[in-house]
Amino acid sequence: MSVTVLVGSQWGDEGKGKIVDLLSERYDVVVRYQGGANAGHTVEIGDQKYVLHLIPSGILRPGVVCVIGNGVVVDPEALLDEINLLEKNGITVKGRLFISQNAHLIMPYHKLLDSIAEQGKQKIGTTGRGIGPCYIDKYARRGIKINDLLNRDVLKEKIRSNLEEKNNLLRKVYNVEEMDIDKIINQYVEFDTIIDEYIKDVPSYLNSVLAEGKSILLEGAQGTLLDVDFGTYPFVTSSHPSSGGACTGSGVPPTKITDVIGIVKAYTTRVGEGPFPTELPDETGEKLRSIGREFGATTGRPRRCGWFDAFLIKYSNMINGTTSVAITKLDVLDEFDEIKICTGYELNGKALKVYPSDPLTMRNVKPVYVTMPGWKTSTAGCRSFADLPKAAKEYLDFISKEGEFKISIISVGPERSQTFFVD
Ligand code: GDP
Ligand code: IMO
Ligand code: MG
Repeated sequence: MSVTVLVGSQWGDEGKGKIVDLLSERYDVVVRYQGGANAGHTVEIGDQKYVLHLIPSGILRPGVVCVIGNGVVVDPEALLDEINLLEKNGITVKGRLFISQNAHLIMPYHKLLDSIAEQGKQKIGTTGRGIGPCYIDKYARRGIKINDLLNRDVLKEKIRSNLEEKNNLLRKVYNVEEMDIDKIINQYVEFDTIIDEYIKDVPSYLNSVLAEGKSILLEGAQGTLLDVDFGTYPFVTSSHPSSGGACTGSGVPPTKITDVIGIVKAYTTRVGEGPFPTELPDETGEKLRSIGREFGATTGRPRRCGWFDAFLIKYSNMINGTTSVAITKLDVLDEFDEIKICTGYELNGKALKVYPSDPLTMRNVKPVYVTMPGWKTSTAGCRSFADLPKAAKEYLDFISKEGEFKISIISVGPERSQTFFVD
């Protein structure tokens, strides 16, 4: 029995979808435990490309059961679009997907409030999917849960009282047109008729799966540096992508977790605002972006690109208790003459011992680099560590020593087959 948590180790888009797809062959159940349709997890199988926003990437493996845990915020529109798209492509979702009764629902006013907040002073560069406002309502104890869909009277009453308050805010504070209560009630009542059969008591289900000796893969969205507590606050998302979130977002107890895999891109990217010490706002960054096709899977925004940051990974692995790492997108570095690796930060000429947590320090640190020669040859066809060019092996050895991690998987292209395990 193994219970593995798979986390993004940087600022998201590390290639989690691809690695979940690869690993899910070995697991009975795959669970998403936080975030919402802000995620965009890409899986490429042959010439078919899927971008999953809410449904675990394990859905592409026949026979694997997929679960959306209580920590996720569910947008009905995005969920139905995704179910329809998968079913249209011959992938059975019914009977294989279960949604926690305790997951919260994204409401149309969450998306509106998200976009209004982004026009204010504190721009985060959110995905505009209503994530922050939905978690605000959850923690303010007025959120609407999947459970509420099961009782029409409760649902209508909750929508009504939430909207009365939101409409007040929209009108008085933001001077924006009010939303139509009945229209929203009808939308969610209709959603309920479709979604009822997917609703499950997820903690009981997952613990019964464990009692049968089966295995579970917990799929994180976003990345550790976007964690609301451990990330580069306030430039973070509103959930817990780091491994601790896997338990509170699913109902799997911490004592059952057997390993934690960190997904680490061979360089660094970030979407949206916020500090990024190794960012390359120059033609080298542009080169990483164009070779790595670094454009958001959810919003299409260009991703900011920079060198590998071993100091960041050390921090991220500490928070997650990472047991091994999957290195992705190694092939993107194939054409570089030299490659830099950040080994630490300096502030006012002094080396920092601890990873900084406040944005002011983050903005002012100077990354310290080691430069290594590139390998200038394609790795896309490599299928074992031994196949890799010497300089690529040296690069991986260096970053794993510097970042203090063990590499268990290497990815050298977007396609399912372009991956191998490392002993
Ligand atoms: P996620 O959010 O962590 O699942 O990552 P995204 O799907 O947002 O972004 C990763 C992108 O890189 C996707 O377009 C993947 O198809 C692609 N990708 C994943 N692994 C590799 C790899 O090893 N090499 C290359 N070139 N692309 C990869
Ligand atoms: P996956 O799972 C990269 C970023 C946004 C913004 C911040 C807050 O594909 O790795 P939000 O909409 O969550 O309130 O935005 O978080 N962000 C992501 N960046 N990958 C993601 O997901 C992200 N989800 C949110 O760009 O900076
Ligand atoms: Mg993504």
